[in-house]
Amino acid sequence: MSKTYLVTGTAGFIGFFVAQRLCGQGHYVVGLDNLNDYYDVGLKETRLALLQQQANFRFARMDLADRDGIAKLFASEKFDRVIHLAAQAGVRYSLDNPLTYVDSNLLGHMTILEGCRHHKVEHLVYASSSSVYGMNKKCRSPQRIPWITLFPFMRRQKSQ
Ligand SMILES: NC(=O)c1ccc[n+]([C@@H]2O[C@H](COP(=O)([O-])OP(=O)(O)OC[C@H]3O[C@@H](n4cnc5c(N)ncnc54)[C@H](O)[C@@H]3O)[C@@H](O)[C@H]2O)c1
Repeated sequence: MSKTYLVTGTAGFIGFFVAQRLCGQGHYVVGLDNLNDYYDVGLKETRLALLQQQANFRFARMDLADRDGIAKLFASEKFDRVIHLAAQAGVRYSLDNPLTYVDSNLLGHMTILEGCRHHKVEHLVYASSSSVYGMNKKCRSPQRIPWITLFPFMRRQKSQ
């Protein structure tokens, strides 16, 4: 049975392939992305152009931190499932642009969680970052993170 999906980060590396696969399976997909310039915007636009050839794909250019916009999108589209892949990646970039991480990865993550909660989305999948695990070779279990994460904004947690 076909479902209605929200795929965030749809112009990104993983989100593009996920949206393409879901469209190919006959699902209706709303792809969300802010098309930021963290890397080549032309590459993101090329991916989007391919997705927009599918009749069952719609693009929403929006920022995760846009609380009202995200809330309206959830209210209008009635998503069955959400695949949340939009995020600000990059460890070095976070040293110079910490607020981008707060907006996209913390506030932005909450807007998606709130949309799912208020609209009773049946399933949410999201991607974390492998950088959370740092360089530790022994422990790969999310339940036992050794707190040597590479992200400066997550190290704060350790001191508490
Ligand atoms: N690619 C990998 O090898 C890898 C490995 C581990 C985890 N991940 C995680 O998977 C997820 C997707 O990775 P990717 O490689 O596709 O990344 P990507 O950077 O190619 O794609 C992310 C997309 O999200 C969009 N985006 C970023 N901030 C946004 C915001 N505030 N609002 C709306 N859109 C925004 C970007 O424009 C981009 O198109 C990320 O959470 C990443 O940390 C990726």
